[in-house]
Amino acid sequence: MASMNYRAFIAGQVESLRREVGRGIAINALSGGVDSSVVTVLAHRALGPQMKTILVDNALMREGEPRRVVKIFRDLGIPVELVDARKTFLRALRGLTDPEEKRQAITETFYKDVFGKAVKRSRATFLLHGTILTDIEETVAGIKRQHNILAQLGIDPQKAYGYKVLEPLATLRKDGVRRVATLLGLPGDITRRIPFPGPALATRIVGEVTEERLATVRKATAIVEEELGDTGAFQYLAVLLNDCATGIRKGRREFGQIIVVRCIDSVDARRATARELPWPVLHRLTRRITAIPGVNRCLYDLTPKPPATVEYI
Ligand code: XMP
Repeated sequence: MASMNYRAFIAGQVESLRREVGRGIAINALSGGVDSSVVTVLAHRALGPQMKTILVDNALMREGEPRRVVKIFRDLGIPVELVDARKTFLRALRGLTDPEEKRQAITETFYKDVFGKAVKRSRATFLLHGTILTDIEETVAGIKRQHNILAQLGIDPQKAYGYKVLEPLATLRKDGVRRVATLLGLPGDITRRIPFPGPALATRIVGEVTEERLATVRKATAIVEEELGDTGAFQYLAVLLNDCATGIRKGRREFGQIIVVRCIDSVDARRATARELPWPVLHRLTRRITAIPGVNRCLYDLTPKPPATVEYI
């Protein structure tokens, strides 16, 4: 699509959101990723005060992220309500180790406990989602349950939750969403942001998600994003494995945790290859990551997608 057509896309979506919602109230959940950010700006442009946006702190986000995102939107003149649901999510995840059970717990907690209540409070009857074409294709193909797909799975949200779902980005891929984001005036911090999954750091913890394990993967994530931010790679991330390995710290034996670093090139996340990072970069990552308390190994993942996926659960 040429830039002119993206402008037409924006005008068309603003128009159809106004038509669909009428005098009703609509709500969306913003994560700070480019997809939900674009939906937020489009919807506020279309619906003004009839549009309500919340950001759910699910305890699974990156360091300082919830407040940072709320501020970016406040600076754009868009009010975002921060909902602190950290305890609810951590409770729902307690004891779970199976990847799909963890995803399911996050989906259910989000829709039934947290977002469901926010929707009721707001009296909204329309819910806006940042679903993009790739999410739909992968869910339909049965590769992965993306957290934000309902209708495609045969779940009628009107019956199940009492609202209608609107997906203004369902015809776009990531590159298109970024073009629209730029045209909408979103800052580079958002438009250039690497993909970050809805279930957030939980997709990067193999085994149980606990506050302590989240703190470890959060520190590793900050290091990876700092060190690899100028690579221009499609996505880079840190994963905490469920295994331990023997090591030595301060002259004593330590059975420590293992962090995997992944840095991939891809166009739309359907296929990916590992970036050939220079050895000095890999050594620096290893040095910094093994300085995190309790972590004594750092591995670099060379596996392409397929057969691997980008995330670990
Ligand atoms: P996978 O791990 O399936 O990831 O190869 C492909 C791309 O999608 C992101 N991803 C998700 N995004 N909800 C999302 O919004 C999810 O549940 C989810 N799972 C994976 C992942 O970061 C990668 O860019």
